[in-house]
Amino acid sequence: MRLIIQPDYDSLSKWTATYIANKIINHNSSKPFVLGLPTGSSPLGTYNELIELNRQGTISFKNVVTFNMDEYVGLNQGHTQSYHSFMWENFFRHIDIPFDNTNIPDGSALNIEEECAIYEKKIEKAGGIDLFLGGIGPDGHIAFNEPGSSLSSRTRVKTLTHDTVVANSRFFDNDINKVPKTALTVGVGTIMAAKEVLIIVNGLNKARALQKGIEEGINHMWTISALQMHPKGIVVCDELATYELKVGTYRYFKDIEKENLEAGL
Ligand code: GLP
Repeated sequence: MRLIIQPDYDSLSKWTATYIANKIINHNSSKPFVLGLPTGSSPLGTYNELIELNRQGTISFKNVVTFNMDEYVGLNQGHTQSYHSFMWENFFRHIDIPFDNTNIPDGSALNIEEECAIYEKKIEKAGGIDLFLGGIGPDGHIAFNEPGSSLSSRTRVKTLTHDTVVANSRFFDNDINKVPKTALTVGVGTIMAAKEVLIIVNGLNKARALQKGIEEGINHMWTISALQMHPKGIVVCDELATYELKVGTYRYFKDIEKENLEAGL
């Protein structure tokens, strides 16, 4: 696993957007580039950078197909806090991606289990995910794979922990009663099946999760730790998120990535 330590959120966002842009530019196939995407505040800087690269004509999303990680159960797509609204508001409507190339699980589907199975099939039909971008919750969850999730899980419905409901209540007038209690989410196994996984970790409130995911063993209580098994896993973090790492771990990754970072890789 690579750990890229950037000074702050802006440089982390620039690095991540440049990495994704290079993957899209160098994608050498008649098939579209398949990009897995998260919501949340962590990827917002990256989305803004990608929007700018698209606006400047450096990259195009016309040959990119996207799959979002998750969606609240019970919110229709038009709800202001649905992940569908989030993606269109913060990313898709600002870039040249065709509507039909975007996939987001439907949390208002009448048959949720069927929706989960269809979603997995769609990913398979697209040829699998080339690069899955993600964030983590303070408890180390990826997508909505809360502590205790099977590390080989696939798309399904998960109950959110109280901590996650509280954390996400900031988008629901700080009222935990308004936050949906379940979500439809890709599994840890779905993310790990991607050819590459890139996880953004920023801020002091993610420091403990980063430490568990990087320095400790693979454990279903910190689902981010499954990334240790991935052949091409990258975590990009800011300085604040490194506060719980050992000095030795911090220095090791700074040292080993020095030349890559100098070369812009
Ligand atoms: C939610 C999402 C995750 C996201 C996490 C962190 O739980 N399901 O995909 O990584 O929030 O959000 P933020 O980036 O706002 O801290």
